[in-house]
Amino acid sequence: MVRHLLKVSDFSKKECEKVINKSIEIKKNPKKYSSALEGETLLMLFEKPSLRTRISFETGMQQLGGHAIFYSIKDSPLGKKENISDTSKVVSRFVNLIAARVFKRQDIWDLAKYSDVPVINMLDDFAHPCQILGDFQTIKEKKNRLENLKLSYFGDAHNNVTYDLMRMCAIFGWRMGVACPNAPKYSPEQLVLDEVSQISNDTGADVRVIHEAKEASQEADVIYTDSWMSYGIPQEQEEERKKAFLPFQVTSSIMEAAKSDAVFMNCLPAMREYEQTAEVIDGPQSIVFDQAENRLHIQKAIMLFLSDKF
Ligand code: CP
Ligand code: NVA
Repeated sequence: MVRHLLKVSDFSKKECEKVINKSIEIKKNPKKYSSALEGETLLMLFEKPSLRTRISFETGMQQLGGHAIFYSIKDSPLGKKENISDTSKVVSRFVNLIAARVFKRQDIWDLAKYSDVPVINMLDDFAHPCQILGDFQTIKEKKNRLENLKLSYFGDAHNNVTYDLMRMCAIFGWRMGVACPNAPKYSPEQLVLDEVSQISNDTGADVRVIHEAKEASQEADVIYTDSWMSYGIPQEQEEERKKAFLPFQVTSSIMEAAKSDAVFMNCLPAMREYEQTAEVIDGPQSIVFDQAENRLHIQKAIMLFLSDKF
């Protein structure tokens, strides 16, 4: 049966570890994989902007000996003259892998439902699995382990990246503090909380939503934040959101409340003096560029895994 990666919990803990370990190996010896996907094609469908995802997927596929096609959804008949099921059935006869960045989760679920080839989520409104797998690789490289850690997230928690971080912390049995304003539009959806608590029942994870930033930071090994203005959020909401999220900005005092060897992460793009101060993102605890680099390696490992190449 064809496998897809639509959210990080589509992989078991063992599979996440396998992909992360393969990525570390590819990073050390990229030449060994230079023809691993020779003659294969990846279609990348984009409905929203991207720097890292687009360039790292395109470069990664080329480094594996394959070819990547960038296709902007606004250039397609999709939604106007053609539905998702027809699009999916057609393109899966041309290419070996499909990756998509869409606004609505249902769209990528439908793409996967009708595709005969693996579909990879490059970000929707529910998940960002490539990001979070790469982030856990980065954490493993910095902490030399993926066991018994605490990650604290700050800011917008009604958010794709937050949801996959919560799932991944649950899968790995971690403690996680999700620090966000006390309002449903900024807090995780019930559907995600239910999934996370179900996973945590088996793994012993403790993922909790907190509305006080300093408290969330205590004992954290990893401090994580994401944009206050995710792709597609209307500009007119900016002032209201800035006001709501300011108490959850990652500042030096938040970093000081965490463990002394805590690392700072942001999936990027980042705005200084918004979700974190410049001092934090440009400071010695920040590992945001290692995080960005690992997108390249982890996506190569994900493509190989879904292509049944290891
Ligand atoms: N982190 C991330 O996915 O970045 P882009 O939006 O630039 O792809
Ligand atoms: N939450 C952000 C992630 C960007 C990679 C967004 O959706 O824009």
